[in-house]
Amino acid sequence: MMSKDYEFLKEVVLEAGQMMADTASLSIEQKGANDFVTNRDKEIQDFLIERLSKQYPNAKFVAEEKMNLYDLPGEYFVIDPIDGTHNFMNGIPLCAVCLAYVKDGEIRESFVYNSLLHEMFSASKGEGAFFNGERVARRKSLPLDRSVILTEDGWKGDKSVIRKYAACARILGSAEIGICYAGCGRCGAYISPRLHLWDYAAGMLFAQECGMLVIERNGKRARLIEPNHILVCEEDMKDELLALWAEAEPE
Ligand code: IPD
Ligand code: CA
Ligand code: CA
Repeated sequence: MMSKDYEFLKEVVLEAGQMMADTASLSIEQKGANDFVTNRDKEIQDFLIERLSKQYPNAKFVAEEKMNLYDLPGEYFVIDPIDGTHNFMNGIPLCAVCLAYVKDGEIRESFVYNSLLHEMFSASKGEGAFFNGERVARRKSLPLDRSVILTEDGWKGDKSVIRKYAACARILGSAEIGICYAGCGRCGAYISPRLHLWDYAAGMLFAQECGMLVIERNGKRARLIEPNHILVCEEDMKDELLALWAEAEPE
């Protein structure tokens, strides 16, 4: 049986996903170079913070569209109201409402919901990973030379090095979705550039509960730090991929 937290949070995320599916009357603001936010991002974030603070009065929030303190408290939520905003504002259905619930330094529950494709990736610490409510039976990755490796535009690494060893390098435009795809075996691995906590926290628990490693460049388990670089892969591809990463992006 899933925890009360999981059940409650899932309902809230489903509601937020309905807000994302409403793509009418969008207004777009530029925050910086190639950095945009829409009115929908802000509405979803406000909705989540309002609903969650009623149920968890002591919890703090780390969320993309607000000022954040990074002295992280015992209980907090990590929110990316829409991960993949560029995709969203262009009508590309690769974007998701993302929520992670962290208590005592561990992600307990997480949700990455792409309501445009009706795909919910969720996880509960120690209870498993779920795709649209069904437990994920992870598909074994193909060998590296047949695998798709997902990465990001912001990755400073040389993508031709990925192409040298793997079948191809792809960029989806939503880090959280990429991490979930690596988790459930839709691709061989995911290598990130500099990510904010809200770009990876929710996907990280999903991938871990699928039995995948989520590690930093030194090969150690990824920490919840802001920002971070991560590699999501199977144990038996770890050494090959860390070597690839080092070659593509020398320190
Ligand atoms: C972005 C996406 C993208 C990643 C960027 C993120 P946003 O988040 O996750 O895939 O490359 O680093 O900022 O702005 O769409 O929420
Ligand atoms: Ca994001
Ligand atoms: Ca965002």
